[in-house]
Amino acid sequence: MHTTRSLLTHLFNRLVQEPAIWEALQADRGLIAPFIEESLRRDSPVQRTTRRCMRDTEMAGVAMRKGDLVEAGIGSANHDETVYDEPEAFRLDRPDLRWHIAFGTGSHICPGAALARLEARIAIEVLLDRLVRMETVEGAVYPPLPGSLGHDPILARFVPREHAA
Ligand code: HEM
Repeated sequence: MHTTRSLLTHLFNRLVQEPAIWEALQADRGLIAPFIEESLRRDSPVQRTTRRCMRDTEMAGVAMRKGDLVEAGIGSANHDETVYDEPEAFRLDRPDLRWHIAFGTGSHICPGAALARLEARIAIEVLLDRLVRMETVEGAVYPPLPGSLGHDPILARFVPREHAA
């Protein structure tokens, strides 16, 4: 799934660029779940979704007519400053870490959420098990998050356990 690929790329990108997070996860694997949830919130792989209005209605003072296409900003909602303290910050200590809508909400909420979370956890555990650390590569370009990074290579130098100094 391109969505899971984006999540994995976002997680990997952060671990490569933010050694403090890598070290925190190495010290406490209990932080893997918060790391995944904060990535889903801060760097939501699905940034928006579309609905068609079934009847004339109004939301937050905006009139919508039956048949209108409405874009719902998932990424924007996950950065709502009335909900999140410092929404742009990437933090592992947020209360209610799963209080995001990266998997949608309501009757069409993503049925693959548990699988995506599991795949992300396994990927991170394998990296933590096998590597001492990952390093950025000089000259490589690391695009800003969030973004559709699933299609771009994220260059990293692996320092495996058996070769560590
Ligand atoms: C990080 C990974 C994923 C993210 C961020 C994600 C996100 C979403 C979102 C936001 C929706 C709701 C769209 C809407 O309401 O318009 C959705 C729906 C859906 N997702 Fe995922 N998804 C992910 C992984 C997966 C996986 C692994 C599967 C299947 C194995 C899956 C299957 C589906 C299906 C079938 C729907 C449609 C549900 C419906 O319309 O009732 N997703 N996903």
